[in-house]
Amino acid sequence: MTAAVRPDPAVVRVALGSRSYDIVIGRGVIASLGARITALRPGAKAFIVSDDNVARYVLADAEAALTRVGVTSSRAIVAAGEASKSYRVFEQVCEAILGSHIERGDMVVALGGGVIGDLAGFAAAVVRRGLDYVQVPTTLLAQVDSSVGGKTAIDSAHGKNLIGAFHQPILVLADTALLDTLPQREFRAGYAEVAKYGLIGDAAFFAWLEANWREIFAGGSAREHAVAVSCRAKAAIVARDERETGERAVLNFGHTFGHALEAAYGFSDRLLHGEAIGVGMALAFEFSVRRQGLVAKEEAARVRRHLAEVGLPTKIKDIAGPSPAVDDLMELIAQDKKVRRAMLTFILVRGIGAAFVEAGVDEREVRAFLSEKLAER
Ligand SMILES: NC(=O)c1ccc[n+]([C@@H]2O[C@H](COP(=O)([O-])OP(=O)(O)OC[C@H]3O[C@@H](n4cnc5c(N)ncnc54)[C@H](O)[C@@H]3O)[C@@H](O)[C@H]2O)c1
Ligand SMILES: [Zn+2]
Repeated sequence: MTAAVRPDPAVVRVALGSRSYDIVIGRGVIASLGARITALRPGAKAFIVSDDNVARYVLADAEAALTRVGVTSSRAIVAAGEASKSYRVFEQVCEAILGSHIERGDMVVALGGGVIGDLAGFAAAVVRRGLDYVQVPTTLLAQVDSSVGGKTAIDSAHGKNLIGAFHQPILVLADTALLDTLPQREFRAGYAEVAKYGLIGDAAFFAWLEANWREIFAGGSAREHAVAVSCRAKAAIVARDERETGERAVLNFGHTFGHALEAAYGFSDRLLHGEAIGVGMALAFEFSVRRQGLVAKEEAARVRRHLAEVGLPTKIKDIAGPSPAVDDLMELIAQDKKVRRAMLTFILVRGIGAAFVEAGVDEREVRAFLSEKLAER
């Protein structure tokens, strides 16, 4: 078997009344998967959804953890990558769940990154009008972001994540040892979301990250701490605003610029989501400096310095290939769901750790800012 289970994994509670659940974080916690499922739902069968990449590294451990306590399981393994968040693959997964005679009271297990979490979570939301599911996130992004909060979705021709549901898991099991096999570039992209929690609401955490990021990458106990602090931050926001009617929007910090860049580069390997968020957060800081003069220039420089130090892109010109035109970026920003009558909703900052939702940002101001940034060499 894998590493021994730490006796004291960190536990973060997501407090949502009858839909509350725990996020269990630690090296080796995947070994407790079966025991935890049995404790929550005695007698439940499990249906594992994973991708062919993750399955190679983790499926055997996950299945062993189930078998050891007598939980029977079946599985659907889909191709790795965003393309699996499609109607076609969604249908295959739903049919496979039904074909395995999974009933109400049984359990779907999402074993993978955000793609698998979103896909399996959505299948769990609708098959038999709702099955319980467990998130076993295997990327840093999934451990600190997508596995927490209950947003599930697949993609439409009209855009990403447009077909989905809010469906909370009953447990999140974040085994930080699983991240050891994650490619560096994917790890770094996930780290952008970790840094985001510091930038939006926790200046002390950001300072701690500046000092400890190397140990997070290396897999020391700082990694567990970073995941736990991130989950605690997201859990608190989700508990106050589960369906994003207000405050939850601050989690989109850096994402308006970031999504436009991702789309401009065709959602390709040229720019991963977290990399786009690296650039997006640096731009959001600069835009906040420029717009309100409330943020000192040095704060924006400090944010950029840290993100660049870990190896994330922080400027549009850091992204390989020709830069998009300002018109294209503006059109993509306008298509974003946060637009209301030429006024854009942006998440701005008053400083590191102090983000807020600003609904009245004039489109022309954003255009002028981006034109300047695109002209920079
Ligand atoms: N639901 C939400 O709240 C939410 C939030 C943020 C992002 N998302 C979604 O998450 C998705 C992105 O998630 P992601 O970045 O985890 O991508 P991903 O799931 O595609 O994983 C990235 C790559 O890493 C591989 N991988 C995963 N775990 C591994 C491991 N332990 N070792 C080696 N390789 C491993 C995968 O096979 C894949 O190739 C997007 O579809 C996005 O829309 C959802
Ligand atoms: Zn993100």
